[in-house]
Amino acid sequence: MVQRAMKKLSGLDIKIIASTHGPVWRKNPERIITLYDKWSKYETEEGVVIAYGSMYGNTEKMADFIARCLADEGIKNIRVMNSSEVHESFIINEIWRFKGVLFGTNTYNNGIFPRMENLLINLEHKGIKNRVFGVFGTYGWSGGGVKGIVEYINKNKWEMVCDPVEVQFSAHEEHYEKLRHLAKKMAKRVKEN
Ligand SMILES: Cc1cc2nc3c(=O)[nH]c(=O)nc-3n(C[C@H](O)[C@H](O)[C@H](O)COP(=O)(O)O)c2cc1C
Repeated sequence: MVQRAMKKLSGLDIKIIASTHGPVWRKNPERIITLYDKWSKYETEEGVVIAYGSMYGNTEKMADFIARCLADEGIKNIRVMNSSEVHESFIINEIWRFKGVLFGTNTYNNGIFPRMENLLINLEHKGIKNRVFGVFGTYGWSGGGVKGIVEYINKNKWEMVCDPVEVQFSAHEEHYEKLRHLAKKMAKRVKEN
């Protein structure tokens, strides 16, 4: 839609942009036109967003470990974002920018941690495209968080870089190897961009 609209307007000398919602751009409208163009093409940069939900810190530890592994693999742009502390609009902003997305969740009432679920619903509504995904997380007894995110990804036909990594309560030595594998796969895929 945006690309079509921009084509239609391409012959005009635009001085002000007054969108139906959002700010009015009076100075240098060229800058925002360039950004609209970039965002509406779903173009990505090399980098990975790790968005997670964690109550006791088990899932958070996994997120931090993956971030370190990604850095070992030479990924410079890594965003580690706690969905309980960062509003989803900021997380979506980063996901819009970078190719790789890793979702982490504990299990909460047989399902995904609520803030993470909300993030997924919003991403789906915005029709995010051209990204690669991975999933990790924890559970206490019967699980459901990681499974819920995987179902979401499959339903949207989004690409997963490898199998999810799921642990009971907290990650141990054998799980860290799996998390490193997940990070390696993600780093490789993101560099192919
Ligand atoms: C409010 C609450 C609800 C939970 N519900 C479930 C559940 O339905 N199924 C399950 O397997 N574990 C459940 N758990 C256990 C957590 O998923 C588990 O302790 C997990 O390791 C917590 O990860 P975190 O440290 O990242 O928060 C629940 C824990 C809490 C506090």
